[in-house]
Amino acid sequence: MNQSSSNDKVLILYGNFVDTPKLNQLRVRTETLVLVVNGKIVFIDDSISNKQKMIADMKQLHAKADVQVIDNSNSFKENGKVKFFFPGFIDTHCHAAQYPNIGIFGNTTLLDWLEKYTFPLEKELSTNLEKAEYVYKKVIQKTLQNGTTTISYYATIDKESTRLLAKLCLELGQRAFVGKVCMDMNSPDYYTESHEDCVEDNKELVTSIRTMNQNYGKSKFVEPILTPRFAPMVQGKTMKELGKISKEFQVPIQTHLSETFSEIELVMETFPNSKDYTSVYKDHDLLNERTVLAHCIHLSDDEANMIKKENAGVSHCPVSNSSITSGECRVRWLLEKGIKVSLGTDMSGGYAPSILKTARQGLLVSRHVAMKTSDEVGDRDKLSTNEVLYLATVGGAGVMNLNSIVGTFDLGMSFDAQLIEIGEGTNVDVFDWQLTSSSDDYNLIMEKWQDIVDKWVFLGDDRETTKVWVEGRQVK
Ligand code: GUN
Ligand code: FE
Repeated sequence: MNQSSSNDKVLILYGNFVDTPKLNQLRVRTETLVLVVNGKIVFIDDSISNKQKMIADMKQLHAKADVQVIDNSNSFKENGKVKFFFPGFIDTHCHAAQYPNIGIFGNTTLLDWLEKYTFPLEKELSTNLEKAEYVYKKVIQKTLQNGTTTISYYATIDKESTRLLAKLCLELGQRAFVGKVCMDMNSPDYYTESHEDCVEDNKELVTSIRTMNQNYGKSKFVEPILTPRFAPMVQGKTMKELGKISKEFQVPIQTHLSETFSEIELVMETFPNSKDYTSVYKDHDLLNERTVLAHCIHLSDDEANMIKKENAGVSHCPVSNSSITSGECRVRWLLEKGIKVSLGTDMSGGYAPSILKTARQGLLVSRHVAMKTSDEVGDRDKLSTNEVLYLATVGGAGVMNLNSIVGTFDLGMSFDAQLIEIGEGTNVDVFDWQLTSSSDDYNLIMEKWQDIVDKWVFLGDDRETTKVWVEGRQVK
């Protein structure tokens, strides 16, 4: 370990570290010491015999730096609380400008929901930047409070309103992808743009958002993302131009795919020369390893195979899909094809600003899929708590191509994390006889940890997320 200088920020953490490095694997490292220097994990050891000495040595080594020590080791003994660090959540699909509408959707489905609730609100925030700033701050703060450390946002159709969202993410410390909504065809008269403006605005945003990072001493902390709203509202030539920008400047892409049947019909009427909805994106150069496809509910086998072949990723949005009655995404089917899958809140199609709630709903929706299939196959469709937590972290990192940076606690990765506290005095009751073990048998102890994590997934909310860090900066 190298000595630190006076400008360095050092975090010494001791306690339980839980993460999901593989699908359905819960990794629990207890009595673990982690050293974070300037936001990166530089040391991690779960076999420290003399903790106090090690912490003292580390403090001395980094005496010149700004050092903070967080030691959670005795919390259960002292106050009946179980504390553990968990990787920050990754929300791969969220409409920042729709935040005021969460919970408001009545009995609408996608296309009438867009007309009635969504376009008027986005229009308002595309022109009233004061209002937009207020809303964007709220949504960033609310998602951070819920443990979301990385998020992919749709802003509005307006360039300035998009730039504002990127700036606020940098200021408030949320790792983000920020996109200007593109819609230059079949869109309402009061909320539309020209092909030329769309292309020019996007080129400009790629440069200006990347430059903005430097003003905050960052690199790629907030990234631009090309955001054609969905095929029926974007001209073919515009999609092609966005495809060119994506390739030339290595910019990710986000859009919606196969959310409802009436949407699919509209797409096929608009693009009769393409074989299916997924092919519309493929035919217009928008399907690649940097593409994030929200929903993907009603795909054919051919379409799923195409997504796998192009290595695009899926954002599964189960709260939204249940709320505006879009359908049930067959996540196991996608995973078995080897497709990258993650979770999205899809606010305000989804009402919850929480990826924990989204994970819970994903688990339940998988059971609805299972109840419709035969017994044997049905069981296979069920997702476990560990699997939905994987989608919420490592899955999201995969879809956003951030696997070497976030998603687990490993050497060299960014410290994007949340501290979870359940038990005495929290919203999640656990009884001490459910936690303590009379035996040292590893499996038994693992079982207890599985119970703890399951209770958190089903009963927890933002109150159990007591601290949050992004790249080592404490944001809650
Ligand atoms: N399809 C096109 N626009 C939208 C949107 O804003 N939300 C959702 N859920 N689907 C869409
Ligand atoms: Fe959406």
